[in-house]
Amino acid sequence: MKFLTLFIFLITLFNCDCEVLNLPAHLKIGVATSSYQIEGGWDANGKGESIWDRYTHIKPSLIIDNSTGDVACDSYNKWRTDIEMVKHLGVDFYRFSLSWPRILPSGFSNTINPDGVRYYNDIINELIKNRIEPLVTLYHWDLPQPLQDIGGFPNPILADYFQDYAKVAFELFGDRVKRWITFNEPPSICVESFEDANTTAAKAPGFQSHGIGCYLCGKTLLMAHAKTYHLYDKMFRPQQEGKIGISVNSPWYEPQTDSIDDKIAAERAIQMNYGWWVHPILSTTGGYPPLMQERIDALSKAQNFSRSRLPPLSEKEKRIIKGTADFLGLNHYSSTYVTSGITPPKNPPSFKEDVGVNIRYGGSATGFRKLLNWIKEMYKNPLIYVTENGVADKGSALNDTNRITFLRNYMVQLLKAIEDGVNVERYTIWSLMDNMEWSLGYTIKMGLYHVDFSDPGRTRTAKSSVEFVRNITKNRRIVYENENVENENNRDNLFTFPIHLVQ
Ligand SMILES: *[C@@H]1O[C@H](CO)[C@@H](O)[C@H](O)[C@H]1NC(C)=O
Ligand SMILES: *[C@@H]1O[C@H](CO)[C@@H](O)[C@H](O)[C@H]1NC(C)=O
Ligand SMILES: *[C@@H]1O[C@H](CO)[C@@H](O)[C@H](O)[C@H]1NC(C)=O
Ligand SMILES: *[C@@H]1O[C@H](CO)[C@@H](O)[C@H](O)[C@H]1NC(C)=O
Ligand SMILES: *[C@@H]1O[C@H](CO)[C@@H](O)[C@H](O)[C@H]1NC(C)=O
Repeated sequence: MKFLTLFIFLITLFNCDCEVLNLPAHLKIGVATSSYQIEGGWDANGKGESIWDRYTHIKPSLIIDNSTGDVACDSYNKWRTDIEMVKHLGVDFYRFSLSWPRILPSGFSNTINPDGVRYYNDIINELIKNRIEPLVTLYHWDLPQPLQDIGGFPNPILADYFQDYAKVAFELFGDRVKRWITFNEPPSICVESFEDANTTAAKAPGFQSHGIGCYLCGKTLLMAHAKTYHLYDKMFRPQQEGKIGISVNSPWYEPQTDSIDDKIAAERAIQMNYGWWVHPILSTTGGYPPLMQERIDALSKAQNFSRSRLPPLSEKEKRIIKGTADFLGLNHYSSTYVTSGITPPKNPPSFKEDVGVNIRYGGSATGFRKLLNWIKEMYKNPLIYVTENGVADKGSALNDTNRITFLRNYMVQLLKAIEDGVNVERYTIWSLMDNMEWSLGYTIKMGLYHVDFSDPGRTRTAKSSVEFVRNITKNRRIVYENENVENENNRDNLFTFPIHLVQ
């Protein structure tokens, strides 16, 4: 049998202009989900209301298919099936998130919901029994509604309440969970929630705060992350011996042309969208990227504000935030082309005008390698976990050949980046199964497994990509044809669908 496999492998090699890349031994492969997107059970057995429960219930028209996550994939009941699927894929780890209001229904740590604790203990224990490592995200966007009612992340007190929640999680699960992510995708939490109100581009809670709320949210989020890091480092790491980091998303920003304006625009785009979060944590100086701070200071002045809309971090805050990541999580889906889009300062301001670039999604997987190398150069080669990468289905529901091409191309670029010396130890596919894709509802399918949302049993069926992933986790090598690397289809392209303004 082994010989036959080898024989077929050799025949394949002879018959194409192929390159073979082996996965390095230190690279672990995993799949990801998040609580709101899969669990359902939105008010089951003591769970509190989250901002996504509230948002989808009171503003259904802001979800393009008017759907909610009330049932989603019903993983609240079907978690055992999910873990069977993870096991079938042969991956090393499963990335999932804890629902804060399932554990702390009011958001505060004075009341713990025993059923929430039971639910996550069941999942963690079953994973460990199957030798699948849990990689746990503390916050994947489902804030307890009572914390939104006191202002949400723009209110600095949330840094402390987040830390309280994290402490409960470390106490309950840290004996078995050794890898923690504080926040998933800060820009989604702080920009999309505060800049795009009343459109399907918005994320809950969907307020309009015009170039102000996003920076206040951002500061609380960085402080919450840093305080939680220090808490883990001092009180839990000595016994639990785990690692804690943050997952920041970024496309690659390619200048549209060789013009100096486009190159400067691309640099501004990555510094203000990505450096905003990573510079305070991983740069040697700390604080926001200087070009970002200077630009928003100057714009605020021109707009007649009495102070900068980006309140600078104090020296003390810089010290607290600096160095607070054992690993840097990266969510990456696509590349973009950038041109300069600077407009005269006007009121009200907006984050988009602060950045001042025009972005068009496109390009190929090669941007992944460029982004990884940019991070290596910029932040002194940090340890990186790729915590999300994937694509929406195109074509038939089960024969997802475009996903196979996409994953192969992106993994090839990842392996080349590792050859370049980028320090990557994990690669995570989004997603284990089709799920509730926020304001896109169930209209886009990101899963390796298909889920039948019209069936009360939410039947899961393997797509063709499941065999592709199994093959990689088993043989730990990728064979690819050299001309096949270009691929323009990815999730972010879908966000360029026309945005529907709601009356
Ligand atoms: C598994 O991958 C190998 C390359 O490592 C390839 O030759 C083979 O065709 C693949 N098998 C399947 C069933 O996809
Ligand atoms: C969503 O609801 C709105 C009004 O409530 C309706 O006009 C629209 O057709 C619905 N869309 C879908 C996809 O059901
Ligand atoms: C959003 O819509 C609500 C009512 O549907 C309205 O009160 C509010 O002013 C709108 N906000 C923006 C920024 O358009
Ligand atoms: C700032 O105030 C000056 C003086 O009143 C005014 O001319 C200018 O238009 C204002 N700038 C903006 C961006 O509103
Ligand atoms: C899937 O689609 C590809 C290309 O369209 C085709 O070659 C292949 O036979 C299909 N596989 C199945 C199982 O239908």
